[in-house]
Amino acid sequence: MFNKDSLNTLIVAFVLCLVCSILVSTLAVGLKPLQDANKLLDRNKNILAAADMLEDGASAEEVEAAFAQFTLKLVNLKTGKFATDAELAAAGINTENYNQGAAAKSATAIVVEGAPPGLTRIAAFATVYALEKNGVTDLLVLPVRGPGLWGAMYGFLVLEADINTIKGLAYYSHKETPGLGAKVDTEKWKALWPGKAAYTASGDINIVVGNKNGNINGAGFIDGLSGATLTTAGVHNTIQFWLGTHGYANFLKNLKAGEA
Ligand SMILES: Cc1cc2nc3c(=O)[nH]c(=O)nc-3n(C[C@H](O)[C@H](O)[C@H](O)COP(=O)(O)O)c2cc1C
Repeated sequence: MFNKDSLNTLIVAFVLCLVCSILVSTLAVGLKPLQDANKLLDRNKNILAAADMLEDGASAEEVEAAFAQFTLKLVNLKTGKFATDAELAAAGINTENYNQGAAAKSATAIVVEGAPPGLTRIAAFATVYALEKNGVTDLLVLPVRGPGLWGAMYGFLVLEADINTIKGLAYYSHKETPGLGAKVDTEKWKALWPGKAAYTASGDINIVVGNKNGNINGAGFIDGLSGATLTTAGVHNTIQFWLGTHGYANFLKNLKAGEA
C-alpha cells in the first residue's frame, strides 16, 4: 500500500514530532521554577509599588531585600485577629506555605451569601504583610481580589500606620482589556488612591470608585476608568467587600485598638 518514500516521510515526521514534543515538554518543566520565581518577583514588586517602596530599575536582589522588611502574617477573618498558633495548628496550616487561593476553594472556606461574583467563598485565613517599626505596624498590605469584566482581578491595598489612610492600590493579575479596564494598572489611575481614608470618622467605608457607584462628592471618591464602567464597578465592589465586615473591617478595628 505504501511505497518506501512515503514510509520514510512518515518515519521522519513521526521522529520530528517526538523530538519536538520532548523538547517542548522538557523546556516547560525545566522553566517552571523560573516562571514561578518571576511570578513571585512580580507580585513582590507590586506590593512594594503599592507601598511606594519600589525604586526605579530595582534589580531582583534589591526587590527581595526591600520586600524582606515585611513580615508575613495570617489573619483569622472569623475572629478579626491575627491567627494564633493553636488555630493554625488546628487548621493544619503552615504560614510560609499557605495558599489563600487554594484555601478559598477548600471545604474550610467561609461562605458569604450575596457576595459579588467570585467572592461567595473566601479563605478563613488571609495572608497580610506588615512592615513594623519598633513593634508597631507602619504599613499594612492587604490582599484583595474581586470580579473584573473578563475575570478575577488580584491586587494589594496598602494602609499607612494609622490603619486607615491608603498608601496605594496595585493590581498584579487581571484579564481586563488593554487601554480599557487594564488602566487599573496605570500610574495615572493608581495616583488617585494615596491619601484617601479607607473609613470615615464614624467607621463607615469611605471609598467610592466611579460615578455610578455612590456619592461622587464624598472625600473618598475615586474617579472611574473612562470606557471601563464594568471594570470600575468591579474595583468598587472589591474594595467595598474587603473593607466590609466579611473582609478586613473587624481585623482593622481590632488592630487599631491594639486588640488584634
Ligand atoms: C472588545 C471589548 C473589550 C472591552 N473591555 C472592557 C474592559 O476591560 N472593561 C470594561 O469595563 N469595559 C470593557 N468594554 C466595554 C464594555 O462592554 C462597556 O461598553 C463599558 O464598560 C462601558 O459601559 P457603559 O456603556 O455602561 O458606560 C469592552 C468592550 C469591548 C467591545
